[in-house]
Amino acid sequence: MRDITEKEAVELLRKYSTDDESFNKVLNHSRAVQKLALEIAEEVKKNHDVDINLVKIGSLLHDIGRFKCYKENSIRHGVVGGEILIKEGLKKYARIAETHIGVGITKKDIEKQGLDLPLKDFVPETTEEKIITYADNLIFGSRVGTIKEVIERYRKELGEEYVERVKKSHNEIEKLRKRNNFL
Ligand SMILES: [Fe+2]
Repeated sequence: MRDITEKEAVELLRKYSTDDESFNKVLNHSRAVQKLALEIAEEVKKNHDVDINLVKIGSLLHDIGRFKCYKENSIRHGVVGGEILIKEGLKKYARIAETHIGVGITKKDIEKQGLDLPLKDFVPETTEEKIITYADNLIFGSRVGTIKEVIERYRKELGEEYVERVKKSHNEIEKLRKRNNFL
């Protein structure tokens, strides 16, 4: 399968962007996610297998579906991003785009909330997918927030069930990092 450089990933983002403003916004956000995801990945790598290059390029491309889905269809930007990446021969990164929404979306969520998504699980499974999803949640625009802020946001927007999922994701990453700031 094709592998690409950071420069090519940025060019791909530009190709699918609609204007300079949205391109810069997505790129700044993705760079911030990339920086945090790589910091986490380097720590995790001391004890676990993790593909640093997959994290590096995947984090840059995770929001490539954003340009087509920025309003009421925002929930679809993961799946649309996955389709773009598959079309570009970059299947390797497609699941990162598909699974990074929220703390992962389950088939049950889609049914229960009547979401406009194919009826299947979009849940981060690999270490790389988990790191990028976690880092993305911690980046507010392009600023690094705290896990407390992430929890408050989910509590306000989606309720306690989702707060528990954020905590689970945080604890999993803490464990991978061999840290113990558990929630
Ligand atoms: Fe996103």
